[in-house]
Amino acid sequence: MAETPEVVEGTETMNGQAAEGAWEPKILGILCNWCSYAGADLAGSARLQHPPNVRIVRVPCSGRVDPQFVLKGFMRGFDGVLVSGCHPGDCHYAKGNYYARRRLTLLTRFLETMGIPRERFQFQWVSASEGARWAESVREMTERIRKLGPFQGVGRPVPLLIPVVARQSEAQAVGVEAR
Ligand code: FES
Repeated sequence: MAETPEVVEGTETMNGQAAEGAWEPKILGILCNWCSYAGADLAGSARLQHPPNVRIVRVPCSGRVDPQFVLKGFMRGFDGVLVSGCHPGDCHYAKGNYYARRRLTLLTRFLETMGIPRERFQFQWVSASEGARWAESVREMTERIRKLGPFQGVGRPVPLLIPVVARQSEAQAVGVEAR
C-alpha cells in the first residue's frame, strides 16, 4: 500500500495543498537524465507518494553539475539542494559521476565557510529502477529541511573560489597540472 505524504500539522489543507502563508521547504533537485530522472519518473508512474517540495532540473549527467549551480540555487531562494546521479560504474558517459563526486565532495567542505549548513545539501545515487529510493530520499530531505527551517541566505559568498577548486580537483584526478 502506498504511504501517505508527510504532513505537518497546520500547513496543509484537506486537499493536501499548503495552507496560504504557511512555509513549505523549497528544494532544488538536479538530476541526471539517464538514472535519477528516470527513477523519479518511475516513482511518479508507480504512484509512490512523496512531498511535492522538490523542483527538478534535468541535466544530461551529474558530471554536468557545476558547483555554482548548487550555490545559485541557494542564492535564488531554495532551502535545500539535492543532486542525484547514476551509481558508480553506471554513468552513461563512463566517468561523469566520478567527476561529480569529487567536485561536490569539495563543495560540501566549503559550504559551511559560505554560511550554508551542510545538511541543506545532499548528493546521492539513484538508478532508473529505484523509484522507491527516490521517493524515500525526497521524504527524508524534505523532513530534514523542514526541521532546519527556511534558509536565511548565503552568509559569505565566495563565488570565484569554487571553479578554481573544482579545476584543481579534476586536474589531480587525471594527473595534469591545473591552470
Ligand atoms: Fe547519470 Fe552520468 S549519466 S551520472
